[in-house]
Amino acid sequence: MGRLEELNREIASCRKCNLGYSRTNPVPGEGPEDAEIMFIGEAPGFHEDRLGRPFVGASGHFLDELLEEIGLSRDQVFITNVVKCRPPGNRDPKPEELAACAPYLDEQIEIIKPKVIVTLGRFSMERYFPGESISKIHGRYKRIGNTVYLPLFHPAAALRQRRWKEDLREDFHKIPELLKMVKENPVEEEEESGSNDEYQQLSLF
Ligand code: SF4
Ligand code: URA
Repeated sequence: MGRLEELNREIASCRKCNLGYSRTNPVPGEGPEDAEIMFIGEAPGFHEDRLGRPFVGASGHFLDELLEEIGLSRDQVFITNVVKCRPPGNRDPKPEELAACAPYLDEQIEIIKPKVIVTLGRFSMERYFPGESISKIHGRYKRIGNTVYLPLFHPAAALRQRRWKEDLREDFHKIPELLKMVKENPVEEEEESGSNDEYQQLSLF
């Protein structure tokens, strides 16, 4: 069994937070183990919970559209969320739920080793850009070693606000260029590691 598959099994039986009791299906995320780009959203919604797949509702359709615009399809990228089970009524994930679920995302990143990590919305942005405001930093990236972090608006928010939709589209179109940049100019990594503590100490941008 592959490492991702093994992790999916673990998530499927997880009850580390209350969401594990109210969900219909866990939504671990999907995509190839060697994906170069990883998208991290917030949490599964109604449709995702029903199907056990990430971004399959309205935001997912918009995400597919944006991917197509930059010449990518869903099966070339890894798509997941900071929280793997649906919060009831789509409420915001609670701090204890985010904390309980974080090790799964850490492990997915460890396995996939994406070159570009795109955060969608403020909950995933907070992991890499703590204390920042998304309306201020969206579309600005930071690079740590051979990984680039790009914070974007959440597609659901963009679907509600025309201005954000245009911003999201514009920011999204930077992805191929950023991927090219890390691939063409790799740096020697002193340490292959990425705990949240270290991220916080590194300067932004
Ligand atoms: Fe486990 Fe994460 Fe689901 Fe909570 S949200 S039960 S930590 S998989
Ligand atoms: N919104 C998210 O943040 N994630 C999904 O998987 C679907 C909608």
